[in-house]
Formats: sequence, structure tokens, C-alpha cells
Amino acid sequence: MSSYFLDSLEQRRTIRIVRNETPISNEKITEIVSKVVKHSPTAFHSQSSTVAILFEEQHKQFWQGVKDLLQEKLSTEQFEVTNKKLSGFQSGYGTILFFDDEAITSTYEKDKPQFKGKFEAWTEQSSGMQQFAVWTALAEQGLAASIQHYNPIVDDLLKEQWDIPASWRLIAQMPFGMAGQEPVQKSFLPIEERVKVFK
Ligand SMILES: Cc1cc2nc3c(=O)[nH]c(=O)nc-3n(C[C@H](O)[C@H](O)[C@H](O)COP(=O)(O)O)c2cc1C
Repeated sequence: MSSYFLDSLEQRRTIRIVRNETPISNEKITEIVSKVVKHSPTAFHSQSSTVAILFEEQHKQFWQGVKDLLQEKLSTEQFEVTNKKLSGFQSGYGTILFFDDEAITSTYEKDKPQFKGKFEAWTEQSSGMQQFAVWTALAEQGLAASIQHYNPIVDDLLKEQWDIPASWRLIAQMPFGMAGQEPVQKSFLPIEERVKVFK
């Protein structure tokens, strides 16, 4: 079966070392991300999933902030390893930050008490759908990326240094750029064990 969509799913990989280069413009990247955010589903179409895009210097500054924070928290030996990993992200072209706007989510929690306790998972799922779609759309354009989770330690840094609304809860960070490494080899469980078919 040939499908451009399915081929793109396969093309998307985790690349943790990225370079400060892009085959497409900032405008095109912004257009792609905006389209994904607009059309990805959210529970009750609340549209609480939000993103911020940091390009070039902003991106570098963000990862420098993460490094500075972690240097304070970790031992010298631990930081050496972490610093190397963070440099692989910082050497990229940009970072997409994924959030949930809790100002929106909390109104749904109040208005729909029958779904008490469900919304937190749904906001993570909605954001995950956006992350996957952005990641795949960037891969289609020749941009490599990975997903990182330095929240909540970076939450204050972001709010202090960037004009991020106070109600936006950080969920994930996606550093991107041209690939600086090959993806690792993946092995797969037999797919029949994961997909049951009844007919
Ligand atoms: C929900 C989720 C959380 C992940 N968190 C991280 C993370 O914090 N750091 C990281 O380097 N990779 C993270 N990954 C990437 C996975 O390790 C990666 O997707 C997996 O090994 C498969 O490799 P692939 O992305 O190349 O297909 C995460 C992936 C998913 C789906």
C-alpha cells in the first residue's frame, strides 16, 4: 500500500543532536506549526493545547538557561553527561514548546463535573497528538527533532524570560534542526502481538 502520510510516519525519528541549519524558512515552520495546532483535536474542542516557537538566539538562550539550572542541581560528573546531551539540542535551529492553557482547561473541569479527574490525561493526550503531528510534518520538510521533558524545572525560567502566559503549563520541548546524527536502529515487537484483528 502506498501512502504519503504513512511514509511520513515512518520517516519521523528521534534525533537528539541537531544542527543550526534549516531547509525551510521561519515563516514556513511557523505556518506548519500553526496548521497543526489549529487542526489537531482537543477534548471537547477546548483548544487548550498551545505552543511557542523559539528560533535561533531565543532557542540558544533557552537551552543555556536549562544548562545553568541543571549545573546548580547536579554533581560535576552528572552535569558533564547532561551538558553534552543539552549541547546536542542547543546546537540546533529552534525549539517548539508545547503547553496546556489551564485557564481554558479549568473552565471545562468546572462545567463538566461528570468528567472529574479525566482532563489532566486528556490535555496530555491532546498535546501528544500535536507533538507527533509537528514532529512528522517537520520530518517531511527535512528537519530532525526530538521530544524532551525538562519541565517542571524550566517552568519559572520560561515565564521569567519569555512572555508566556501564566496559565500555560509546559508539557514538552522539541529541539529541531538539520540532523547531526543518524537515528539509532530500532527493533520491533511482532506487530501481530500489538494489533488484534477480529473479523
Ligand atoms: C511520550 C513520549 C515521551 C518521550 N520522552 C522523551 C524524553 O524525555 N527524552 C528523549 O530523549 N526522548 C523521549 N522520547 C522519545 C522516545 O525515546 C522515542 O520516540 C523512541 O525511542 C522511539 O524512537 P523514534 O522516535 O526514533 O521512533 C519520548 C517519546 C514519547 C512517545
